[in-house]
Amino acid sequence: MLFPQETYVQRRNALRELVGNGLILLLGNNDSPMNYPANAYKFRQDSSFLYFTGQHRDGLALVIDCESGAETLVGDEIDIDDIVWYGSVTSVAEMAKETGIAHVRPTAWLSELCSHAKAQGRTVHFLPPYRSDHKIQLMDLLALHPSQQKEAASLPLIHAVVKLRSIKTAEEIAELERASHIGYLMHTAAMRLAVQPGITEAYIGGQLDGIAASHGSTTSFQSIISMHGEILHGYPSQRPIEAGRLLLCDAGAETVEHYCSDHTRTTPISGRFTTRQREIYDIVVDCHDLALTHAKPGVKYMDVHLDVCRLMTERLKALGLMKGDTEEAVQHGAHALFLPHGLGHMMGMDVHDMEGLGQIHVGFDEETRPRLDQFGTNALRFGRRLEVGHVVTDEPGIYFIPDLIDLWRREGTNAAFLNFDKIDEYRDFGGIRIEDDVLITPDGCRFLGDERIPYHADDVEAYIAG
Ligand code: GLY
Ligand code: MN
Repeated sequence: MLFPQETYVQRRNALRELVGNGLILLLGNNDSPMNYPANAYKFRQDSSFLYFTGQHRDGLALVIDCESGAETLVGDEIDIDDIVWYGSVTSVAEMAKETGIAHVRPTAWLSELCSHAKAQGRTVHFLPPYRSDHKIQLMDLLALHPSQQKEAASLPLIHAVVKLRSIKTAEEIAELERASHIGYLMHTAAMRLAVQPGITEAYIGGQLDGIAASHGSTTSFQSIISMHGEILHGYPSQRPIEAGRLLLCDAGAETVEHYCSDHTRTTPISGRFTTRQREIYDIVVDCHDLALTHAKPGVKYMDVHLDVCRLMTERLKALGLMKGDTEEAVQHGAHALFLPHGLGHMMGMDVHDMEGLGQIHVGFDEETRPRLDQFGTNALRFGRRLEVGHVVTDEPGIYFIPDLIDLWRREGTNAAFLNFDKIDEYRDFGGIRIEDDVLITPDGCRFLGDERIPYHADDVEAYIAG
């Protein structure tokens, strides 16, 4: 358990008050087999369950009765076979005591609880499940087919969890800083490897996995490492890296307690940017730095995103890649040919924090509904007004995606704002993204991590030369 008991007690009290009535059922994760039951993927606790209990064991659930206030940790004790193979673990009763939960029940009790709740007409609040075993369990408990469960998940519970988990406390920020530090070690290592033409993308990926693992950590998602940075989630291949190209590396660490980091750097494999690469790179740097001056409490992140789109459009116009009125171009989503995603997402115990609860509930509210009918804008993950304690990523990019360029040219999409002949000259360019994690503070914001992974072009060249 990471934090003092009081932290978890307060979180559960706040959750109960926000939800207000009925039963809250939070399912912890189960072991997930890779190819046979005893050969499982590394166990990963569900983040919301962990947030409210601090407990890492598989096969647990938390029940909170909003009316009586009773809290129950549900789980079966391990048997002698488990002890022989994996050693002894803390009992469910001890875990409950540690986190300040008064009652303990075996898993079979959940059926009884749910039947009783149904008979009494009480609501059982649950979060949208993302694992198949939980979907089956909820089908058994609540007689809801998996296809109905996302719809039937409790909005009051989703909103309550989002409200609480969105604001990172000082003790959580310390853990996020730890993740950032491991991210710094990963990315500076990757930058040094990126200037060794001949080694493979996969080799660099393996080194990053190793750095994370040697801190007892994992990567916070499968690392994205590619000379084809224009593939937004391009996973490392066995291709040797080639001088002259750019290598995009988007990777993060997740601490033992599952707090994440998420950084992206794009490094010239030759050690120096060409003039053409640097022209585009510097635009991304300036877009990246814009968030530092614009993001502050009360500002909509949607507006910071749109300011980045305007700046990018202005600068691409200066290079002859775009044309026309900047405001109109952004209104029409013309910039999305180059930036088909949003400026960032929330980050915390999930690298895309709480995305499983539904992006619309996490990233938006009544005043910041994303335009779902427009390419690019429909991929925004976070637009809400920023609050002190929010942690969001700042990750602008410019990508030259040949298939997308060809499609837009063929269909005449945003032709009034795009110089397709000029853009065609960049079709083998690849893509650039720069990403850091931003904490919103009372005065504005700051990047997480006390050591900055170099990203200004001169700093990058100096770092890899050294
Ligand atoms: N860092 C990967 C992503 O944000 O999607
Ligand atoms: Mn990210």
